[in-house]
Amino acid sequence: MTATATASAGTPQAPPHEPIWELAEAIVASRSLHVVAELGVADHVGDGPVPAEDLAAACGADPDALERVLRLLATHGIFEPASGGYRHTKSSLLLRSDHPMSMRAFARLNGLPVFSATFGELEHSVRTGSPALELVAPNGLWPYLQEHPEEAAVFEEAMTAKAHADVAAVLDVYDFSRHRRIADVGGGHAHLIEAILDKHHDVTGVLFELPHVADEVAPSPRLEVISGDFFTDPLPGCDAYLMMNILHDWDDERASAILAAVAKSSEPGAAVLVVETVMPEGPEQHWAKTLDVLMLAVTGGRERTEAEYRRLLGHAGIDLVRTLPTATPFSVVEGRVR
Ligand SMILES: C[S@@+](CC[C@H](N)C(=O)[O-])C[C@H]1O[C@@H](n2cnc3c(N)ncnc32)[C@H](O)[C@@H]1O
Repeated sequence: MTATATASAGTPQAPPHEPIWELAEAIVASRSLHVVAELGVADHVGDGPVPAEDLAAACGADPDALERVLRLLATHGIFEPASGGYRHTKSSLLLRSDHPMSMRAFARLNGLPVFSATFGELEHSVRTGSPALELVAPNGLWPYLQEHPEEAAVFEEAMTAKAHADVAAVLDVYDFSRHRRIADVGGGHAHLIEAILDKHHDVTGVLFELPHVADEVAPSPRLEVISGDFFTDPLPGCDAYLMMNILHDWDDERASAILAAVAKSSEPGAAVLVVETVMPEGPEQHWAKTLDVLMLAVTGGRERTEAEYRRLLGHAGIDLVRTLPTATPFSVVEGRVR
């Protein structure tokens, strides 16, 4: 027992109870991360170690309780014990609000009232196939966020944070300079389209977003901002349409409706660039499998295999041309309007 007890979970040598222990208790470390991000602890750690009691005083926390939570997170590489206090690791630095690649909002996301309550209801999704969120926010996520601006602000910031890594990886694998006018459909705070415009000075862009998000994005000479609903309003005429983490929010019927709106507003030959995880066909570990259950619970959407994207695009009159993997778990699925 002792020889195998030290093997990590998931390896062939791990004792059978180990993955159960780890997964059953994963919520403890996960919630600790949400809370530490919520309290803004990382903002109070500078270049050197800081005692937990000073951090607690700065964040309005109980010193002993915060110390215990930090001790756990440090075992995951988030903060590091030093000189009786805690100092930053490369990961905990990303929890600082002022870090240019800050992931603080992303770390807060699943701790928000709407998401933590939704995951508490996951059994509803598994029993019925419907999103657990319907028990928490009966009108769906997007109307909920429109009515809860504080949670919406964290959500949109988290999407931008998530995109810090994705955006660079997408720009590395796809040459956007071949297009003249690119629509970013549901582009959030415009992080992807703005990065494209920064890199390619002959390209212009259009952000198409729900009003509460579009209102927060300033247009520029090369970026038009259109507020609208892709289920009811016409999309702008462009020669390329980007959708990053959009189709996975919706079931096949609704995702087909978005693609049909794209096909309707475009000319034959227009590019349709879907940035999503592509679900592997095999049993290997992949981030897509986590996101897929998240979509099941929250939006009623799903992650899809390449074959499923080919079918979905095909129904809307769009041919899947190729799938470009990136350095992150996301791929660019390129389609062309027939
Ligand atoms: C998961 S976020 C993705 C944001 C961004 N593309 C990214 O990857 O960071 C989905 C986005 O779709 C937008 N959205 C949801 N429903 C929409 C609708 N009916 N019309 C336009 N945008 C919508 C949301 O406001 C949100 O910003």
